[in-house]
Amino acid sequence: MSKYIDLRDNCNKELLVAASNCIKEGKLVIFPTETVYGIGADGLNANAVKNIFIAKGRASDNPLILHVSSIDMINRIAYIESKLEKDLINAFFPGPLTIILKKKEIVPNIVCGNLDTVGVRMPINNIAHDLIELSNTPIAAPSANISGRPSGTNIKDIYDELNNRVDYIIDGGDTNIGLESTVIRVINDEIHILRPGKITYDDLSKYGKVVIDSHVLDKVKATDKVLSPGMKYRHYAPKTKCVLVYSENNKKLIEKMKELESENTLVITHNKNINLFKNAISYGETLEDISHNIFKILRSVDKYNNDLVIIEGVKSKGLGLAIMNRLIRACSHNYIKI
Ligand code: TXA
Ligand code: MG
Repeated sequence: MSKYIDLRDNCNKELLVAASNCIKEGKLVIFPTETVYGIGADGLNANAVKNIFIAKGRASDNPLILHVSSIDMINRIAYIESKLEKDLINAFFPGPLTIILKKKEIVPNIVCGNLDTVGVRMPINNIAHDLIELSNTPIAAPSANISGRPSGTNIKDIYDELNNRVDYIIDGGDTNIGLESTVIRVINDEIHILRPGKITYDDLSKYGKVVIDSHVLDKVKATDKVLSPGMKYRHYAPKTKCVLVYSENNKKLIEKMKELESENTLVITHNKNINLFKNAISYGETLEDISHNIFKILRSVDKYNNDLVIIEGVKSKGLGLAIMNRLIRACSHNYIKI
């Protein structure tokens, strides 16, 4: 059994000191960030990091992000090689952005799946920030879920799945954003989006030319070379078969969803469309609502025992790109675009 501490209404430094001691001892701590919860361990302790891979059942070639609390800590683990990287760090840290940098020797190879780069992120969430600072080490943390499952955005969803696999669980309430950080890498002075998130194409475009990696929306083929190993893996998918439907023409979109609907389907849709279907749940109104709610909803769908889940897509723009990236994977690329 792990030790549970409730920091939903207050950030009790004493309890955080205990959690940071756990990190220093090489143990695993689940903690909140503004995006999703992470399973954290001392990112410079190879043995502790190995236990994260075991707890999640994660492929060893899929690298972890190192979470830092200061620019000094970045300089301990990675090289900031270009002005563009520096500008992006100044603009978006702390916040929901991960930047892939050339790693320094001090970072164990297991963290990076043997690549010569490391993902670096500085969370803005207070609990995450204080935990890293008190631990005085970069914290390696993937999303808090068993590999393949939706990322954990609240302790209720995470508890049953991971309780026996970690030493400490810090409850900070529902995470704010609900989708993982935007992952970028600067290549030849261009900003490549490897995983879209709350920091969007337009946000990044103020600092340089932005390229959206083709695998953000397209399936990775066996022969493809990927810039981020995470793109290859099955992710977010419920056990129930899911189909994603989208059209810019709302009438056609609803018609298609109605055509797929039966007595034994579940529809996940906008608030405004909820009454159009026999059996539907709402993911909210705005893109922010959808981002906040979608992983919790994807985790819940199997309990209804439907034959098919029909999910209404959104325009792949702004935060919508991040939402569609997750939904396409949740549906194992079963995507009807009209
Ligand atoms: O918001 C987030 O980023 C959350 C919270 C906990 O910070 N973390 C998270 O970690 O989503 P994870 O491990 O679930 O996803 C990290 C993604 C993976 O797709 C991985 O392949 C990619 O980042 N990644 C990490 N290091 C990389 C590297 N050196 N090169 C390319 N991709 C990398
Ligand atoms: Mg993950």
